Amino acid sequence: QELQLNLEQIEKGGYEHFMLKEIHEQPNAIFDTFRGRLLSNEALVKLAGVEDNMKKFLAADRIIVVACGTSWHAGLVSEYIFEDLARIPVEVEYASEFRYRNPVITEKDVVIAISQSGETADTLAAIKLAKSKGAFVFGVCNVVGSSIARETDAGAYTHAGPEIGVASTKAFTTQITVLTLMALRLARAKGTISSSEFRHHLIELETIPSKVEKALKSDAYVQTIADIYKDATNFLYLGRGFNFPVALEGALKLKEISYIHAEGYPAAEMKHGPIALIDENMPIVVIATKKGHYDKVVSNIQEIKSRKGKIIGIVTEGDKSVKELADHVIEVPETIECLTPLLTTIPLQLLSYHIAVMLDKNVDQPRNLAKSVTVE
Ligand code: G6P
Repeated sequence: QELQLNLEQIEKGGYEHFMLKEIHEQPNAIFDTFRGRLLSNEALVKLAGVEDNMKKFLAADRIIVVACGTSWHAGLVSEYIFEDLARIPVEVEYASEFRYRNPVITEKDVVIAISQSGETADTLAAIKLAKSKGAFVFGVCNVVGSSIARETDAGAYTHAGPEIGVASTKAFTTQITVLTLMALRLARAKGTISSSEFRHHLIELETIPSKVEKALKSDAYVQTIADIYKDATNFLYLGRGFNFPVALEGALKLKEISYIHAEGYPAAEMKHGPIALIDENMPIVVIATKKGHYDKVVSNIQEIKSRKGKIIGIVTEGDKSVKELADHVIEVPETIECLTPLLTTIPLQLLSYHIAVMLDKNVDQPRNLAKSVTVE
């Protein structure tokens, strides 16, 4: 038993929990995921699975993404990215709904299945259904040789390395990295992005690992915020555009490991319901980076403030307007809009982690949850 414990200590590489280790592994994991695929000097994106099936991608009327949990959130981010860059309509589906809905699927559909474990039963069933209707199915998995990797027609692995913590962290950011590379490659092939914009995106993506590193430096400050709000019974997470799915993911992380009720919402939808919940006891995490509807988010923040909600803003370095309104701001480095989720996610992961630790919860193995859900 002692040997087992020591082994686990070694595996955690000096971190108290796997989740914290995996959060800190993200700069390397993202780098490993684009290494050899993103060639900025040559202005190329190389993904064999996409290249070999380019005709199918270019002929597709739409992309249907199927996934569960955090992978579904990565899919939702990819909807914004594919539509913005490659101008391909995207539908993002919970695999569990899709498989039982008698969905309309044709041979002209491309289905992208996203799964860290590659073993999620609902996602696997959704793939089988799509294949039976003649769709081309592409997998984005982390575990090499997993059931979903084998069942799909082609795919691109994330290179996150083993993820042990039940709450997914580095799998999410590496999934977004692969999906961004795919969108860029398709945008180039379709001519929906200029060569200079394409190049600019590649160069920006290359800077993300060092910017994630920088975002991780907020750790100690996030810990002080966690201490202030750890006893709250509800949290609200708001974001718009590319960062709406990040709000959902931030809320999911908090629920999963701290058992605090949290809801993610598109910031503008707040007025259609959640605003009724806001009072001086409600912490609200608002993603308000400079790129992406900034002024609109600032006015959402004003609405929260006038109802006395406690505001934790996730902002771009050097931000002034949100700082004046919010109770706390956590800065992330500046980047182009479609890449902001890779940075804004980081403080949200840290916030949930620290709250869970302070509440003495089992961070790596939360109650009732499993790392891979192989049954319905
Ligand atoms: C479980 C895990 C989540 C994960 C989801 C989908 O609920 O606890 O962290 O996001 O399954 O898993 P997958 O392996 O398909 O990405």
